[in-house]
Amino acid sequence: MTTTELWNNDLDIPPVEVVEREAETFTEQNEITVAAKKKILFVASEAAPFISTGGLAEVIGSLSKAVAKNDAFDVRVILPLYQDVRKEFRKDFRFIGNLYVQLSWRNQYCGIFEYKSEGVTYYFVDNEYYFKRPGCYGYYDDGERFAFFCRGVMEILGFIGFYPDILHCHDWQAALAAIYLKTIYCNRAEYRNIRAVFTIHNIEYQGQYSLEILEDLFGISYHFRNLVEYDRCINLMKGALECCEAITTVSPSYAEEIKQPQFGRGLDPIIRRNEGKLRGILNGIDPEFYDPGTDPSLFANYDADHPQNKAVCKEELQKMLGLPVKPDTPIIAMISRLVSHKGLDLVKEVIEQALRQNIQFILLGTGDSTYENFFTDLARRYQGKVVTIISFNSDLSRKIYSGADIFLMPSKSEPCGLSQMIASRYGAVALVRETGGLKDSITPYGAGGNGFTFHSYNAHDMLYVICEAIGVYRMKDEWSALVKKAMETDFSWSTSAKYYEGLFLSLLK
Ligand code: GLC
Repeated sequence: MTTTELWNNDLDIPPVEVVEREAETFTEQNEITVAAKKKILFVASEAAPFISTGGLAEVIGSLSKAVAKNDAFDVRVILPLYQDVRKEFRKDFRFIGNLYVQLSWRNQYCGIFEYKSEGVTYYFVDNEYYFKRPGCYGYYDDGERFAFFCRGVMEILGFIGFYPDILHCHDWQAALAAIYLKTIYCNRAEYRNIRAVFTIHNIEYQGQYSLEILEDLFGISYHFRNLVEYDRCINLMKGALECCEAITTVSPSYAEEIKQPQFGRGLDPIIRRNEGKLRGILNGIDPEFYDPGTDPSLFANYDADHPQNKAVCKEELQKMLGLPVKPDTPIIAMISRLVSHKGLDLVKEVIEQALRQNIQFILLGTGDSTYENFFTDLARRYQGKVVTIISFNSDLSRKIYSGADIFLMPSKSEPCGLSQMIASRYGAVALVRETGGLKDSITPYGAGGNGFTFHSYNAHDMLYVICEAIGVYRMKDEWSALVKKAMETDFSWSTSAKYYEGLFLSLLK
């Protein structure tokens, strides 16, 4: 099954075929220049493998590489140089210069570092005052930090002489780049033909600030306030939605959902007004980065055709977590931020009923203290059946994906979600609620699909499907066939990257 087959929305952007190298010309120095390459710049606040707090980073890292495989595109990514950018990469960054960036009355140092890998050029924007702090977000001056970043991006284009055809901005932290393009920079010849694309990874986070700081902090004249004002506040996501030529979000179902008040977080009228520009394109994952056949974190490696070692992974996981080693007891796992929209209230409500069955339950994650406390207490009360690990640990998460049988993801809303794809690839059959990207990537077993799904946000509906999954688990041959199907589902970028490429080209016609 391919991801396209799973899509229920027809996109009207044609995916492009891989374009052959065209228009190669030889300069006097005999260098090959590809005149037809379209220049794409991704503007984002994080990207794997350099710095990551979640799905956004993974998508920037893997989508940029996927698009760069097509010779028709010159793909570059620009990010802030946080203190936590991984040292093993940082030592190979090349300093390419510095400039001063004006942000209203401020005049700030802006260093630029460059790094190239797998056909993608990365730029890192350096300013220690703004970025030499632990983590990426959560500071009182995040608005100013990302305004500096976006203004820096716009100035760096001139400094390095790279004017992209497409400025692809992701989430509110990059929204100001699109807004600056259509305000401060709109009359500069080199910027005039740049097309802006804005991708909503999660509409919950919009970048809202008091209107008073529009000029003084963001350096935008009040003349442009209508672009960014919403509900008597500055709303950076709204500004970018108005300014860009195309809006994408990370699954076709989420694209439909955010037009509605239940999912739009107040922005649904703006989404509806701009719906002609909106496309939902399902995210992919990097199948090499998530490969149970080679993953060094696993106790043993396996693949869809040779799944025997998954049993070794399960046994070692049970030993490691102090669970009784029982090969025939299904392990249900959750790896999640412990926040309400991940559906944890449903789990809280019925987990004890589910635990009456012969199952083991593993939860890995951090988040709201109510959930942390509930699941810690649950593990104490159900020793030998439930393990709760309050942490964010990539190595352990891979061990859990490989050892688990069922992966539970009952989100109330989920723009795309990557964990259900990773779990499937590792042979942990996903059990999801039908929302956003969960609906577009997991189809129900009963209809010949690759996992289990339930529709209403209702704890007993979820419990019913958990029992159905346990029932199928007991039927060895059926279960093995389902695991194989899950593992073989194509969650790579091969299809989705083509939709982005098609979108970019359609904007440049
Ligand atoms: C956000 C969304 C998640 C999505 C990710 C990457 O984290 O919440 O659903 O998979 O972005 O687009």
